Amino acid sequence: MTPALLRVGLAGVLLMASLCASAQDAPSAQSLRARSLAATCAACHGTDGRAAVGATLPGLAGMPAPVLLEQLKAFKSGTRAGTVMPQLAKGYSDAQIEQLAAWFAQAPRVSRQ
Ligand code: HEC
Repeated sequence: MTPALLRVGLAGVLLMASLCASAQDAPSAQSLRARSLAATCAACHGTDGRAAVGATLPGLAGMPAPVLLEQLKAFKSGTRAGTVMPQLAKGYSDAQIEQLAAWFAQAPRVSRQ
């Protein structure tokens, strides 16, 4: 192989490597599903779980997953009373509740902008 051909081959390998790296940065289908589930909470708990300044309801972003899980399961089973959440939590499967808890736990408390 000539040096010129080697260079082209090397450029191709580097291009493939960078394409693979950017594919890994793209959000997975699972994380997009979790985010759209979490969007059903935005009306009351803020966009991406970040409460608006002065909001009466707590933001959910950054809350530890075990706490979120416990509270949501308590609302669902009726062991924690509430106005809205007991009704609402019943609409989610246990698997969805786990996804919600994991998603909000990793969501940043403050805006990324
Ligand atoms: C219609 C408004 C509304 C929506 C939508 C809503 N919530 Fe709530 N949430 C509340 C209210 C009100 C409370 C306080 C408890 C109560 O009265 O039910 C609360 C409390 C909570 C708490 C307890 C917070 C704490 O400090 O202990 C968690 C956790 C929670 N919500 C999670 C969620 C999740 C997850 C979703 C989406 C699946 C969601 N909420 C959607 C209104 C809402």
